[in-house]
Amino acid sequence: MIIAIPKEITPGEQRVAATPDSVRRLIKKGFEIHVESGAGLGATFKDSDYEEVGAKIIADAESLYGGAALVMKIMAPIHNAQLGKNEIELMKAGTALVAMLQPLTAFEISQKLAEKKINAFAVELIPRITRAQQMDVLSSMSSLAGYKAVLLAAAAYGRTFPMMTTAAGTLHPAKLLILGAGVAGLQAIATAKRLGAVVEAFDTRPAVKEQVESLGATFVALELEEGEGEGSGGYAKALSEASHQKEVALIHERAKGADIVITTALIPGRKAPILITSDMLKDMKKGSVVIDMAVEQGGNCEHSAVDREIDFEGIKIIGAVNLSATIPVAASQLYANNMIHFLNHLCRDNAVQIDLNDEITKGSLVTHDGQIVNEAVIKASEQAKAGANGSC
Ligand code: NAI
Repeated sequence: MIIAIPKEITPGEQRVAATPDSVRRLIKKGFEIHVESGAGLGATFKDSDYEEVGAKIIADAESLYGGAALVMKIMAPIHNAQLGKNEIELMKAGTALVAMLQPLTAFEISQKLAEKKINAFAVELIPRITRAQQMDVLSSMSSLAGYKAVLLAAAAYGRTFPMMTTAAGTLHPAKLLILGAGVAGLQAIATAKRLGAVVEAFDTRPAVKEQVESLGATFVALELEEGEGEGSGGYAKALSEASHQKEVALIHERAKGADIVITTALIPGRKAPILITSDMLKDMKKGSVVIDMAVEQGGNCEHSAVDREIDFEGIKIIGAVNLSATIPVAASQLYANNMIHFLNHLCRDNAVQIDLNDEITKGSLVTHDGQIVNEAVIKASEQAKAGANGSC
């Protein structure tokens, strides 16, 4: 079976879906790997690195996509301006596509994929279950993003993270408040601690207290009704209005003393909760920094804007997006490793075998045999349509 690794053409995208090491492992499993010329350059991998491990380099996107049984990429297909065609049009009917398709918001892509009869898998929909841990692209990317968010904060902050005792005086350590201690939040805590900051973290799921404390941070606890903060599958669930008000008051108190706030609070499939309001920002110390990692889901901080840094009354608010792509070598390495496990799961006898009774396959398969088949995608699309009609 031929697996194609295209060069990503989304502006700014430096990652690649397979590294020379992952290609070597896939070839060992019996796959034939075609890599588009220059696909790995953004992540420092040369064509010759892929050739050395047995991949075939294909000079142009049209031949690469057209000759593949499975296309493995990072970002959803987009219009290729050079060819004057969408990448979807370059694939033949029946091709499998594995990528981060964002199908819960980018509905037209799923529609186009179904029309072209592509069997498309959105890897960010791989369920976060124990059996799928090694394929969990979201966790890989969130870990890197949590790390990078702290580096961004450190660069934007006019002071130091660690305490420094110098002949010219003592510098106090930075105080960080991390909101949401999921994958991104926990990695942010670990990174900030390594840089010497004093770290507090808050999450509505009491279960994360132990994890926060094991990283050396203080857990800010909110008293909730039994089971109120935790939903199914270990995810959070939305709080009642009364509890949300209690939460906001608690965060307001803690934010006054913080130099840096990193927000990562999210409930899957919902708009991000607003946890930092204008009133809180006004009460924060001048020169403080807020990194809003949930900005693409509407943001946890009022005034944050996608991919922008703004100044609100002396507070820097950074709406950070796609942070893992800014660490392209490590991100490609983790993504490629996740993909080996996903392909192991998906393929039998060197071919894609779609088992619709399997939880991982069913959860991530978006289009099959010309139809959009994913329940979460269908539900999100119906809700979006109902919302759009309601607002007319
Ligand atoms: P996750 O689901 O592992 O963690 C989210 C955490 O937020 C959970 O622990 C949950 O309990 C908590 N939470 C939910 N509601 C809350 C509330 N009201 N107050 C406090 N905590 C609350 O998700 P993950 O993977 O850590 O991602 C977190 C956020 O970061 C998401 O918005 C995600 O889209 C974003 N992200 C952003 C990236 C970027 O480059 N900007 C990259 C990766 C993730």
